Amino acid sequence: MRKKVIAGNWKLNNDLNESLSLVSELKSKLPDLGLNEVIVCPPYTSLESVNAVIKDSPIKLGAQNMHEADSGAYTGEISAQMLKSVGCEYVILGHSERRTIFNESDELINLKVKKALSKQLQVIFCVGETLEERESGVTNKVVEEQVKKGLNEIPESEIKNIIIAYEPVWAIGTGKTATPGQAQEVHQFIRSLVRNYYSEVTAQNIIIQYGGSVKPDNASELLSQPDIDGALVGGACLKSDSFIQIIKAV
Ligand code: 13P
Repeated sequence: MRKKVIAGNWKLNNDLNESLSLVSELKSKLPDLGLNEVIVCPPYTSLESVNAVIKDSPIKLGAQNMHEADSGAYTGEISAQMLKSVGCEYVILGHSERRTIFNESDELINLKVKKALSKQLQVIFCVGETLEERESGVTNKVVEEQVKKGLNEIPESEIKNIIIAYEPVWAIGTGKTATPGQAQEVHQFIRSLVRNYYSEVTAQNIIIQYGGSVKPDNASELLSQPDIDGALVGGACLKSDSFIQIIKAV
């Protein structure tokens, strides 16, 4: 049995005080997780302070992005080592908002994935199709391309440090969730890609999260699908009660 991993992507929300209130509430209401995992991904400015709150709890810390270089003249950017130094264990890479709004290519995302792994950061690697792509029947082709290019030259020994998050772009922030059947179909396909590129064992072990309008009322049905191993939550992770309900759905 694979563990379930629930991650909250706070995106561009919560200043320092708001971050501290949210994470303190989460910590105090957190149910027993067993072997499952919960990750919070606040904005950069709150990482260190949030880390101080969750240090003695099972909640893990992730960042939402990073630069692919170690250091240098890249005004405004943050490196993998900087994230490590404030307590991050995870980093989200390849989120559709980074791909579309900030023009991140598969090749750039691949560089970032390699850099994160080389610095012992675990990666939540996001893929997913747009509505137009789904409607023209190319979902699998798009997802395959993203997985193949994003994981290019990543050795099998490193795959245990990668979570793949399937986030159909049309379901992000829209209130339109993929049906459990639609999500399961793509998750199964992604697992088959991992099997083809690596091995049966690696395919069976990799965690594949679903993201896109996950809410307390749809979480348990999604999470009960055989190939859905967790959720990457946006809007519903900004209130402790709804995030806790999603965690409890596990
Ligand atoms: P929503 O849950 O708001 O749809 O966002 C999903 C997401 O993008 C998480 O990374």
